[in-house]
Amino acid sequence: RPAWHGLIHAYGDFLPVSDRTPVVTLYEGNTPLIPVPQIAARIGRNVSVYVKYDGLNPTGSFKDRGMTMAISKAKEAGAEAVICASTGNTSAAAAAYARRAGLRAYVLVPEGYVAQGKLAQALLYGAEVIAIEGNFDKALEIVRLMAETYPVTLVNSVNPYRLEGQKTAAFEVVDSLGNAPDWLCIPMGNAGNITAYWMGFCQYREQNRCDRLPRMMGFQAAGSAPLVKGEIVTHPETIATAIRIGNPANWQRAIAVKEASQGAFNAVTDEEILKAYCLLASEEGIFCEPASAASVAGLLKLADQVPSGATVVCVLTGNGLKDPETALKQESDRFHRHIEPTEQTVAKVMGF
Ligand code: F0G
Repeated sequence: RPAWHGLIHAYGDFLPVSDRTPVVTLYEGNTPLIPVPQIAARIGRNVSVYVKYDGLNPTGSFKDRGMTMAISKAKEAGAEAVICASTGNTSAAAAAYARRAGLRAYVLVPEGYVAQGKLAQALLYGAEVIAIEGNFDKALEIVRLMAETYPVTLVNSVNPYRLEGQKTAAFEVVDSLGNAPDWLCIPMGNAGNITAYWMGFCQYREQNRCDRLPRMMGFQAAGSAPLVKGEIVTHPETIATAIRIGNPANWQRAIAVKEASQGAFNAVTDEEILKAYCLLASEEGIFCEPASAASVAGLLKLADQVPSGATVVCVLTGNGLKDPETALKQESDRFHRHIEPTEQTVAKVMGF
């Protein structure tokens, strides 16, 4: 098996790149598809459940898939700077890939609503981090205008190369399973990733690499669920700050994906998200960020609707290490503090 040199190297035949494209890569992609038997047992009826653990990408989220493409194409076009709005992960990925390519990176983030790890990354990679007193939707509005006015390339998911890169996750799922799953459960914020996965499945289907297409099951946080409600949410709220978005840029595309795939969009509460988040960590050993757990929370919510014997893939979009604050806030009666440093007291705490 050839060494893994990133997704453009692996899937270049399916991507809009040429010999003239300077490939900017951190060897992203090739993330594991991991069975989660404890989650499957909660569904029962011989359902197989896997997670696509995209939190194992170089900057810790699926955004690296889009960014290797967007930055390579920006570099090819002679860009010197890129800009994006972000709830955190896009800014981390944009910063890393832009700096690796020698480009300046400007990232707009909603002040006070970005998980600590993501902010730390963007700063250390060397982006100009501009925290606005407004939410993600406002930040996106601003960067769209900036990209029209100034010599900076927009690298949000409205940049078509982003989705081209991200569709490779669907290729990998099919390459691992030997076919498309019955259900693909995925969190939605700006709804770029659900669009990208669908593009990937359809392209593989056309090439006869799979003989079916999945139902695309999209999940939003209840306080930020414009695609479920069918209307813009002016003040989106959720503990899953990554998907705290009230006016998704890929709205129409997402609706088209839902219809074409006979899928469904549903909302999950912060409580349900946190329950799935804790379950994944404590029963499966998989630490994802809260927004990612929305896919598993959604699957558990729709457990009764999963067909017997179905194969389900839940996308875990980001690494749990991105957001240590939320992890530490979860109640635990297994954190024993202020323990006298003796063998006896430790043994007692251990229950011996
Ligand atoms: N999960 C995580 C961890 C994310 O960071 C995002 C989006 C999503 C899911 C939703 O993906 O927008 O394609 O529907 N994060 C963006 C950002 C908004 O700025 O990092 P989507």
